[in-house]
Amino acid sequence: MSAMLEARKLAKRYGDSTVFSGLSLNLAPGELVALLGESGCGKSTFLNCLAGLDRPDEGQVLLEGQDIHALAEAAQARLRRERLGFVFQAFHVLPHLDVAGNVGLPLLLQGREDAARVTEMLEAVGLVDLAARMPRQLSGGQLQRVAIARALVHKPALVLADEPTGNLDPRHADGVLELLRQQCREQGAACLLVTHSERAAALADRRLHLGEAGLEALP
Ligand SMILES: Nc1ncnc2c1ncn2[C@@H]1O[C@H](COP(=O)(O)OP(=O)(O)OP(=O)(O)O)[C@@H](O)[C@H]1O
Ligand SMILES: [Mg+2]
Repeated sequence: MSAMLEARKLAKRYGDSTVFSGLSLNLAPGELVALLGESGCGKSTFLNCLAGLDRPDEGQVLLEGQDIHALAEAAQARLRRERLGFVFQAFHVLPHLDVAGNVGLPLLLQGREDAARVTEMLEAVGLVDLAARMPRQLSGGQLQRVAIARALVHKPALVLADEPTGNLDPRHADGVLELLRQQCREQGAACLLVTHSERAAALADRRLHLGEAGLEALP
């Protein structure tokens, strides 16, 4: 099957310091892959390059066959809006929108508002009672669940999730992992999940380690 996402020999440098080089990766539709590696090894930078949010110094990223870094800014933004769900390590929840507004934002931006779908996502992450709360009134784990619901609400083809269970207790973490698996199994999405959790890694179809030697398959 053709790849949902293909990264070819990506490299990223800051001045003289190389964060990574020669990173190649294929994600097939329906596949959930865990990405592990020490703090500072470049996981978030890699995800940002895959999403077109950061520009690699070398290499290409093909999302459903389209070279995202070769697209004009507007086309790239549109592809991201429609096909990508990104869970940021720092959440990036919008402070002036309530919980439901944040979760529904990807649908609103595509002109397909859907209150029932927003409620479905809020139920899935256990936030339905907090729909009208503002972000400043939420805990870290609640904010993280808002970010996850928002990343999945529009049923993206590719999910890039940066430590999406880092602030969650085991019960909520399992719920979020189950949601990600569902998105892969039922919608055929490909998901790359950055995690430090053995439990999360064990649930993935494959495990990759990012380090000095680049990307290596783990058992
Ligand atoms: N703007 C920048 N200028 C210089 N170096 C940077 C910049 N942004 C990130 N780095 C460095 O790039 C490396 C990779 O950072 P990155 O955030 O991708 O790591 P990470 O693997 O996601 O770590 P963590 O597990 O802590 O989230 C780090 O050593 C970081 O210090
Ligand atoms: Mg990171």
